[in-house]
Amino acid sequence: MPDMPSQEFRRLGHEVIDWIADYLRDPRAFPVTTQALPGELKARLPASPPIAGEPMDQILADFRDLIVPGATLWNHPRFHGYFSVSSSGPGILAEALIATLNLNGMVWKSSPAATELEQVVLDWLRQWLGLPESFFGMMYDTASLSTVHALLAARAKADPAMRTLGAAPGFVVYTSEQAHSSVEKGAMALGFGQQNVRKIGLDSQYRLRVDLLEQAIHADRMAGLRPCCVVATTGTTATTSIDPVAAIADVCRRETLWLHVDAAYGGFAAMVPEHRHLLDGIERADSIVTNPHKWLFTPQDCSILYLRHKDALRGALSLVPEYLRTAEDSQVVNYMDYTMALGRRFRALKLWFVMRYFGRERVAAIHREQLALAQTLTRWIEADPRFEVSAPVPLGLVCFRLRASNEHNQQLINRLNATGQVFFTHNVLDGKFVLRWAIGNIHTTEADLTTEWDLIRSTAAGLEQ
Ligand SMILES: Cc1ncc(COP(=O)(O)O)c(C=O)c1O
Repeated sequence: MPDMPSQEFRRLGHEVIDWIADYLRDPRAFPVTTQALPGELKARLPASPPIAGEPMDQILADFRDLIVPGATLWNHPRFHGYFSVSSSGPGILAEALIATLNLNGMVWKSSPAATELEQVVLDWLRQWLGLPESFFGMMYDTASLSTVHALLAARAKADPAMRTLGAAPGFVVYTSEQAHSSVEKGAMALGFGQQNVRKIGLDSQYRLRVDLLEQAIHADRMAGLRPCCVVATTGTTATTSIDPVAAIADVCRRETLWLHVDAAYGGFAAMVPEHRHLLDGIERADSIVTNPHKWLFTPQDCSILYLRHKDALRGALSLVPEYLRTAEDSQVVNYMDYTMALGRRFRALKLWFVMRYFGRERVAAIHREQLALAQTLTRWIEADPRFEVSAPVPLGLVCFRLRASNEHNQQLINRLNATGQVFFTHNVLDGKFVLRWAIGNIHTTEADLTTEWDLIRSTAAGLEQ
């Protein structure tokens, strides 16, 4: 038998599932951060690849003893860095099935269930998010690539000759100073040119200023440039600030510009009825990216792009070699027509598992609870005069700092992360070093946060001595 014999697979499969179940039952038994030094793991692994196969028991032992201790554990209730994300039981089980079937949904014919499940699941999610039926959804690996495809669609709509003649100069993208770097990177990769990315200034709550946007568009038109696309963010990486999408949509309509909304993190606030208003206006966008792998308990990677004018992207990218032509082409969606990559994992399966297992009400209840925890943290921090909250907290991220020098705050985060009990990342806002306390892991409880707040305060007290 060339592959693993089924009896061995069964035995090891049980062992792996037991390890996963133990981990998920009590992730706190593992330190969230690693004390690994650069090069440490590499030094412990053989420099040359195996010649003969090795026993799976040894491979699994090395996973437990070498890999896990060298990892920062993202799927951990005390992980609060970047955005705190979760995989979940149904998503993990789906990943195993995805790998087992190993489908490639490049065209409908290559695996009809992959394409049709993606269509159904993305239509369900569209309904959960309260978006109009006109949106066409498709999955990519990351928000960065979803945004690249949105920018490409915007560009192709404004400049259809680009496909054949190449990128003409002078097309401009507008976004805010707090936009994710993927916007600028995408513009660079697509030939807009970094000099044609306008980073519009912010109001006191870190939101894009619409008056400055209008001025920038006007100035560019006067200079003979071609305004093309505005990227608004609902839930910025730095502070989760929410750009005024409805007002930006008005500008885009008036100026005939494509509006892309980066809701990679914040889109799922729409699940909680009393928070839906935060996203007012996104239904008027031309494209929206949102990431189930950020805030819908779906294992990485899983990003979704909703497009109102899918033909612009198809026009830019569709190129069908003979071996991929099928008799059904005119009746079906072939997702490869809308992506740079040909091959497509069966990501829809994991989102389907997650959406069905949790259901809308439970997802909304978990989100509501997490948003409330962020408010609880805000109150604790505000009540301690040694600390300050550094930005408004509309969603599940609290930026805070000691009222002390940047060096003190840097020391605070270093010491906290060195305990292995908690993981924070930092940012700099208005020149001030801040710690980011992101809530989003499905296992995080108020008891975790209480323990962490005690740790933060005692660590800060140690610094002051
Ligand atoms: C607002 C926002 N947009 C885009 C991204 C990029 O996400 P991805 O890692 O899926 O490319 C991030 C990452 O944190 C983000 O916070």
